Amino acid sequence: MGHLLRGDLAQLTEIEALPLEELPDGSMRLVPADGFTIGLYHCQGELHAVEDRCTHDDGPLCEGEWDCEACEVVCPRHGSRFDLRTGAALSLPAYLPVPTFPVRVREDGMVVIDTRA
Ligand code: FES
Repeated sequence: MGHLLRGDLAQLTEIEALPLEELPDGSMRLVPADGFTIGLYHCQGELHAVEDRCTHDDGPLCEGEWDCEACEVVCPRHGSRFDLRTGAALSLPAYLPVPTFPVRVREDGMVVIDTRA
């Protein structure tokens, strides 16, 4: 019974994004979450997930250009850069970090985003 309960809770807070084989290094996807959108990035062999909402003016952050080598995304509205690993704002006008989410690859190869954070 306890296992069932944990499983139910996990379904509410984890998002199955896509199989890792469909997200090669250097690519990204927009992933719908519960009431918001997440930008999922594969850069330099690591997976990172950030909320698709710029902290400067709530613009759609992840539609902007991103630098795979630096692991940074550039807001398409006013050009603030964010570190995809930490969510930190690296240049003005934004100065607050964007939320980040833990990402893991399940045994079956599915990329899973934990939105509890
Ligand atoms: S909305 Fe992103 S920098 Fe202004």
